[in-house]
Amino acid sequence: MKKYFLILCLLVSAKCFSQLNIVPMPADLKMGKGSFTINKNTKIIASGLPEKFGTLLHDFIFNNYALKLEKITYSKKNIINSIRFVHDGKMYGAGIGSYAIKIADNGILIGAGTPQGFFYGLQTLFQFMPESKNNLTISQLYISDYPRFKYRGMHLDVARHFYPVAFIKKYIDYLAAYKFNTFHWHLTDDQGWRIEIKKYPLLTQVGGFRNGTITGRYPGKSNDSIRYGGFYTQQQIKEVVQYAAERYIDVIPEIEMPGHASAAIAAYPQLSCFPEEDTKVLPGTPWAGSRKGKQVQQTWGVFEDVFAPTDYTFNFLENVLDEVMPLFPSKYIHIGGDECPKESWKRSPFCQQLIAANNLKDEHGLQSYFIQRIEKYINSKSKKIIGWDEILEGGLAPNAAVMSWRGEEGGIEAAKQNHDVVMTPGSHCYLDHSQSKNEDSVTIGGYLPLEKVYSYEPVPAVLNAEQAKYILGAQGNLWTEYIKNNSKVEYMIFPRMMALSEVLWSPKEKRNWNDFEKRLPGIFERLDREKTNYSKAYYDLQATVIPGANYDGVFWKLESKNTKDKIVYLLGDEDSRLNIYSEPIRLLLTNYECTAWIQSSDSKKIGNQLKQKFSFNKATGKKITIANDPSVSYPGDGVFTLVNGVQNEKGLSKGNEFLGFLGKDLDATIDLGAVMDIKKVTLHTLEQNGSWIYLPSKVEVTYMYSIDTGKNALLGPPDKMLSVDIAQGKNISKIEIPGQQRCRYIRVMAKNFGIIPSGNPGAGNAAWLFADEIEVE
Ligand code: ACM
Repeated sequence: MKKYFLILCLLVSAKCFSQLNIVPMPADLKMGKGSFTINKNTKIIASGLPEKFGTLLHDFIFNNYALKLEKITYSKKNIINSIRFVHDGKMYGAGIGSYAIKIADNGILIGAGTPQGFFYGLQTLFQFMPESKNNLTISQLYISDYPRFKYRGMHLDVARHFYPVAFIKKYIDYLAAYKFNTFHWHLTDDQGWRIEIKKYPLLTQVGGFRNGTITGRYPGKSNDSIRYGGFYTQQQIKEVVQYAAERYIDVIPEIEMPGHASAAIAAYPQLSCFPEEDTKVLPGTPWAGSRKGKQVQQTWGVFEDVFAPTDYTFNFLENVLDEVMPLFPSKYIHIGGDECPKESWKRSPFCQQLIAANNLKDEHGLQSYFIQRIEKYINSKSKKIIGWDEILEGGLAPNAAVMSWRGEEGGIEAAKQNHDVVMTPGSHCYLDHSQSKNEDSVTIGGYLPLEKVYSYEPVPAVLNAEQAKYILGAQGNLWTEYIKNNSKVEYMIFPRMMALSEVLWSPKEKRNWNDFEKRLPGIFERLDREKTNYSKAYYDLQATVIPGANYDGVFWKLESKNTKDKIVYLLGDEDSRLNIYSEPIRLLLTNYECTAWIQSSDSKKIGNQLKQKFSFNKATGKKITIANDPSVSYPGDGVFTLVNGVQNEKGLSKGNEFLGFLGKDLDATIDLGAVMDIKKVTLHTLEQNGSWIYLPSKVEVTYMYSIDTGKNALLGPPDKMLSVDIAQGKNISKIEIPGQQRCRYIRVMAKNFGIIPSGNPGAGNAAWLFADEIEVE
């Protein structure tokens, strides 16, 4: 009896709990005291506009609870035991998407003024329908809800990896469930052209396939030599667009220009400034098959061979757009515009003549000319263009909307120029970035945890109220270089897409991370039930290395949001004693590997295990200061990161182990605590040119007896400086400066490489300098 009572309590609490796990949080939600039970006699009342939503609910209840409810279309008031749809904009909000739900003891009312409102009302209702298949009891509540932003977008890159129509529909279902209303379909890029164009069949026959794909992180360890590709027929595109429209989702196609054009050029080489030249394969790029002629790219990054701004190209692109535009009812056509290297245009006599003939300033002016010419064409077909923020360079096309991805500056500038903006900064909206510091598969890099997505505010504080109106909303982007299958797409978007849905839908003042955190366990249970893959990084064991209070050692601090289970650790190899973690662990000044994990009461490992090698030297745990702060994007765990005993292992670029300096030098001084003999100083750094990270051009080490220049200065030998110039492209991660010295203070100055040279990803931008450790022996 007692056991039965306990089970009943658990069921009741689980049921009530799930009812609160609504995402995105409605504008107004009040819980009542009683409940309402849907049973076989419950009637669905819906006529006129809401009738199809009545059918949707009928089917949902039948499919999930095997209960076939009667649908009736008359609307006699106060019918007992009913679910009634009421179309009334005055009462329930005339704004697109507004709705109200009232669950009383005698029935349910769903009211809205627009079809979107009924649709979103149902999405909310579906989220708190009971898990139990045979008891449809729902708590009484009242919801009044409406969206904050009118553009709520998710993007998917199907060029780097291709996903079948069935999965695209599933992706759209995910968007709909969390009240997104825009699907940005990135259909063309250097690695594949994915939309059938009847006039140019080679776009998909040739441009839709590549002869292989790099393995591992860019530029790649090897090439899998497997022909890879696919495309959507126009019929399939129509089917997807229709499917999305039924879910109130607008599909914006992206046809990339003038850059990211390799696949199109492979199909029609005349689109290039240099049709006769072979596709350039950079040294060190693993390649499969022929290198002759124009090829679809097999690695990631940006490529010099871009569209030539010739009449042939414009005519070609207009013909392509003539087939694309009728397939998509969307007001916007995305024309890309990002990452277009200017080398080919600089080399091309035709382009130089075009620049002169049109009084353009330079190649950026030519990019603007290109986009404006395409805009004029698209506008003439009653559509508008949207493009990545590079379309601001050289002058924004008159009616263009801007997607701000390289931070928020582009969006701010566009809003100030009275242009519509969608915010999608890499810092908060790039869902291809790692969500765990300990990912078990390769990602493009970066670190974007759930909490950071949740914290995003799309309207920059620098805009005044008038300018802020141009911020239509925001979008999560999923670039798929390192996302080869459906399951990983799910893993990357969940649960971060849910956090973004709340950013976009819920009123600003309703957004509350602590409340979202409370809903997370229920949200995860729902994803489990739906068999959707998702990241559990939220529960990750987090480790930080912290200094001792008086620079007297190094401690390993372990934390997790999982408070149910224990954290355990080994200091050393597997034969060492298993310890239960209670407080930061003092590490002995020796080199060893430590392991930690979360362990359940029945001794099972939960989540990812952390392994950390510590390498101690004379600088470990010592006082360190720096003259220039690192970038806010790569702050490491503070400047102490440089002397924390953790050296990045080659190939594993974990962002938080590095300090990153964008265009700036590293200038650090370590106090060893006492005068001592030094044999060598080693700067641990990173060279990853594809990610704009360069070795320093020079490293200078100054050995000082004292840095106190006042009266109390200790007398010692004069300061001594050693300096080495660094050659790039050596694929090294350590710079050693040997030299027998005696000193107490060591200053390490690493000069930033400067501006990235042409022909490389990020050309023309400032390079990153990354440093993770200064080792003193
Ligand atoms: C982009 O991420 N290149 C828009």
